[in-house]
Amino acid sequence: MKKIIIAIDGYSSSGKSTMAKALAKAVGYVYVDSGAMYRAVTLYALDHGMIAPDGTPDAEALVAALPGIEIRFEVNPGTGLSETLLNGVNVEREIRSLRVSDHVSPVSAIPEVRERLTAMQRELGHDRGIVMDGRDIGTTVFPDAEMKVFVDASPQVRARRRFKELQEKGMPADYDAVLKNIRERDHIDRTRAVSPLRKADDAVVLVNDHISIPEQMAWLIDLYHQITSRLQ
Ligand code: DC
Repeated sequence: MKKIIIAIDGYSSSGKSTMAKALAKAVGYVYVDSGAMYRAVTLYALDHGMIAPDGTPDAEALVAALPGIEIRFEVNPGTGLSETLLNGVNVEREIRSLRVSDHVSPVSAIPEVRERLTAMQRELGHDRGIVMDGRDIGTTVFPDAEMKVFVDASPQVRARRRFKELQEKGMPADYDAVLKNIRERDHIDRTRAVSPLRKADDAVVLVNDHISIPEQMAWLIDLYHQITSRLQ
């Protein structure tokens, strides 16, 4: 069967990655979390003193450091899940912290950072057979993706999900701080000059405030079959 590219874009904590991961597993595709790549660059910038106390990244220093930032994904044999490596070090846990979440949007707005990560993402999708989630996958990274989904839910529902996820991981969390972070990221992601978060014209919208994960999965797999059967 012809392999396709599946782009899943949407707001932070809209459940994109849960869906994208499960869909990749169900159809035997590779899953790539593009947000993890922006988070890894942000962690690098934080650890190298490239973010001022007011949160402004030193774009010049970070752009100069980009050639020395290597990001890879490796499957954890214990969980079967893909984890993020930054210059050979597993940073999967650290990149999910609120410290990184708080600084990732300004870093993601730097055009050279986007250019470099977009090139890496296109390389990962070279052989198709990939599910990638993010903000600009269907618009900028793979405008020719055969299947595009745009996921949305209210900020409160998304904050509750993120809060629960942090608690389950044993990471300190405060609901109001999580909600504030989500609103701020939505704003920066939507209004940045390069590749702002927006629905691709040919993306199918999924608003998932009130649908269960199994219902979403059934919907997604059905959409995948409809699209691939048209391509035969
Ligand atoms: O999906 P996430 O919340 O882990 O993404 C973290 C941040 O990375 C998000 O606030 C915006 C940025 N991002 C982006 O600009 N483009 C992408 N394709 C993916 C993420």
